[in-house]
Amino acid sequence: MKIAVLGMGTVGTGVVKVLNTNKEKIQSLIGGDVTITHVFAKNVDKARDVDLSDIEITDDINDIYNADIDAAVEVMGGIDHTYEIILQLLNKGVHVVTANKDLLAERIDDLTAAANENNVHLNYEAAVAGGVPIIRTIENSLNANQISEVMGILNGTTNYILTKMTVDGWSYDDALEDAKEKGYAEADPTNDVEGIDALRKIVLLSRLSFNKKVDIKDVPSTGISNVDATDIQLAKDLGYIMKLVGIGKYDDSISASVEPIFFKADHQLASVNYEKNAVYVNGNAVGETMYYGPGAGSLETASAVVSDLIHVLTHPARGNFQPDEEAVIENKAVEYQYY
Ligand code: HSE
Repeated sequence: MKIAVLGMGTVGTGVVKVLNTNKEKIQSLIGGDVTITHVFAKNVDKARDVDLSDIEITDDINDIYNADIDAAVEVMGGIDHTYEIILQLLNKGVHVVTANKDLLAERIDDLTAAANENNVHLNYEAAVAGGVPIIRTIENSLNANQISEVMGILNGTTNYILTKMTVDGWSYDDALEDAKEKGYAEADPTNDVEGIDALRKIVLLSRLSFNKKVDIKDVPSTGISNVDATDIQLAKDLGYIMKLVGIGKYDDSISASVEPIFFKADHQLASVNYEKNAVYVNGNAVGETMYYGPGAGSLETASAVVSDLIHVLTHPARGNFQPDEEAVIENKAVEYQYY
């Protein structure tokens, strides 16, 4: 199986490492080798801590379009240009695995339609909550349920900041700097602290959970940039912990939002600390379920990307999940202030 990797940053190098380290197991699952034949990268000559010596590294996307590959892994980010690239690849009959939540939250329905027309996979397990296996869990393992609620700590940077402020008494600014240094934050951390990153993720989770197209413009988000140590301390004194969460609810209508919420200290989400993510899903057959783990990181995110790749290479493309109807979002955000 020949693949191209688009983007050789934190996640791209993680993908190479996971494919190398777990080569024999992956070979046995796939029934053959997975070979990275091409890498698309802005900086072809950059030194990286993985061996790319037998791989054609190019900054010309036409080399990828012309390559004889079964699948492409997109971990370079970006929206408009990356959309065009993925669309071209799908139209060429190439399976695509992407971690690109920014793009998917805006264009997943268009890309899915293209993938389905071309009978190829479009998989994105890594796009929400990094290494936490939540996309295929909702799409497949929970698909017998009507899901009434999906709620999660979906951004490691803000959870790290809030935990540092609550548990360790740090200031907001020091905690943000530390999150940047540790590599949790986006290139522009505004998207983390203003709730945009979590918004993109709850849009994807709500779409899957409620079987509706969700327009990101219909979902309000509030971040944590206005939170200060006094808010945290007052909440703590009353037995509450502040978390930034994405919430989707479906009863007679759909509500969806991202906002800082006060949780009682004994709530399961209150103990999800530092950069960790967690997602709570309530289904009418299974009841309450929770998924916990790393929301970012090189190998952690690559775990989800490579799992998608194995899925793509071992399952026939029978049509990616595609809701027919648009969601009508009625915001009842005020209900969600305390849990
Ligand atoms: N900036 C993101 C976060 C990275 O902090 O969760 C993973 O999407």
